[in-house]
Amino acid sequence: MARLLPDELRLADDPFGEAFADDLASRAMGAVVDRLPLMRVPGLSAWVLYMQVRTRVLDDAVRAFTAAGGRQLVLLGAGYDCRALRLPELGDARVFEVDHPATQGHKKAVLARLGAASPARYVTWNFEERPLAELPGALAAAGLDPAAPTLTIWEGVTMYLTEPAIDASLRAIRAWSGAGSQLAMTYFARSRDVRLSLRTRAVKALVARAGEPWRWGWIPDELPAYLRDRGWALARDVAMAEAAQDLLPPARARLVGATDRRIALANAPESIAVAVAARA
Ligand SMILES: C[S@@+](CC[C@H](N)C(=O)[O-])C[C@H]1O[C@@H](n2cnc3c(N)ncnc32)[C@H](O)[C@@H]1O
Repeated sequence: MARLLPDELRLADDPFGEAFADDLASRAMGAVVDRLPLMRVPGLSAWVLYMQVRTRVLDDAVRAFTAAGGRQLVLLGAGYDCRALRLPELGDARVFEVDHPATQGHKKAVLARLGAASPARYVTWNFEERPLAELPGALAAAGLDPAAPTLTIWEGVTMYLTEPAIDASLRAIRAWSGAGSQLAMTYFARSRDVRLSLRTRAVKALVARAGEPWRWGWIPDELPAYLRDRGWALARDVAMAEAAQDLLPPARARLVGATDRRIALANAPESIAVAVAARA
């Protein structure tokens, strides 16, 4: 859908995305945008801009990491993330995609149909069947060097997990993250006193009906200590609405009103520059 935005609002390009769209959804959206420019379709345009902002913030995290010398990326719950194919900055990096066998099977089939050979290494994992504590070993077997800096992207996943799974995941990620590693994750902010926005409540009801209820969120003030206890130092924690202000013209940024959906970036203790220099 982002390809239908005017140039000045396009923050990330995914030439593979459309091939993953479900036929019915694709036809329905196609029928709408055949009649109206995307920016004149309320709701849909806000959602596409929101996804653009989220994608761009994480793409920029990848670019900063590779610019500093990082060469390992783990996409935890990768889904149809095609960063391994679409970001030239990852050209000489090792990209590991961890996901459920069904999702990976579909992804491989779609990419094969497109004739796109992904350089990613697939690590097939069903979190309901195998303990997370075994995942660092599986990644090492797939070629990940746990002593080297790794950027782990955990996008669109934390909200579906229970607290024990969140805790186990952060510890497992830390186990494969050598000095200078980073974690970038999206999460929903819980609040003691602020109600969820109307849009967030509507989407929450929809995903619960679809059988994938949102279960988890952090109170942002509590996130630094939660991460610190698991070996991570919070470096940046930004609401999508704030990130949108940095990336889009003000009138468009206001459409991305999500203050309760956030992206957090955290570091493993040493800076990547130190870790990369030490290994040279
Ligand atoms: C909402 S998607 C996020 C995908 C991608 N990171 C993104 O942001 O587009 C959640 C992902 O978690 C994966 N997942 C759900 N349950 C899983 C399980 N039991 N084991 C492994 N992966 C699972 C799904 O296959 C899916 O790719």
